[in-house]
Amino acid sequence: MMATNQNVTLKAYRYDPDVGQEPRYDSYQVPIDETTTVLEALYYILERVDGSLSFRSSCRSAVCGSCAMFINGMNRLACRTQIVALNSREVRIAPLPHLPVIKDLVVDMAGFWEKYERVRPYLITTVASPDKEWPQSEEERKAIEEAIDCILCACCHSSCTMSWWDKGYLGPAALLKAYRFAADSRDQAGLERLRLVANEDGVFRCHTIFNCTEDCPKGLSPTFAIQELKKRVLWKKLTFQM
Ligand code: SF4
Ligand code: F3S
Repeated sequence: MMATNQNVTLKAYRYDPDVGQEPRYDSYQVPIDETTTVLEALYYILERVDGSLSFRSSCRSAVCGSCAMFINGMNRLACRTQIVALNSREVRIAPLPHLPVIKDLVVDMAGFWEKYERVRPYLITTVASPDKEWPQSEEERKAIEEAIDCILCACCHSSCTMSWWDKGYLGPAALLKAYRFAADSRDQAGLERLRLVANEDGVFRCHTIFNCTEDCPKGLSPTFAIQELKKRVLWKKLTFQM
């Protein structure tokens, strides 16, 4: 583990399409202690060294998903990545790979959200919502326990090589969301949901590469969710319900 209370070199990707210069990395010296996160280091630069650096953040507590970046070779949340844990005197930060860059570390998430909307990410039911709460049994809740924690950071979407190759592929985040509602005991759109993903842009484009699961900062497994959706789709097809 690195010694703390010292400086690290932070190299940040810089690119402004409006200016038209080639992308570059700018280096900054940043003082850290044992708790300093990458996001805090970026704010240090923004507030004291270089106000032109652009990045996204909001909650600072791994809940909003907006500070996902490519940090020392891996997609991570800047707010939950402590610099000492990287065990390196150099921190290299780039925008999430394979997403268009708007400026510096800020990527265009429009394609990500378009895929998210395609899976209809909300409860579909003909039953009116109860006034207070909609009870579920322990087992029913367990079925969606993990998928419900997705913070839509796009780390998985950015690391999936099938998403790079096929821009129409729904990708791991949207498919995890499709599973989250397909597995919800309150949802009544089961067959419709499976039809949305039972194609070459859906579950059959996943080649079980696992990058999505390895890179998820919340420890979720889109791979598992996709396999579960595949099983449901295949069962419907084998039993001529689809
Ligand atoms: Fe982020 Fe994980 Fe959700 Fe993918 S599954 S969007 S990596 S929280
Ligand atoms: Fe991509 Fe994850 Fe499947 S990385 S190919 S969605 S297992």
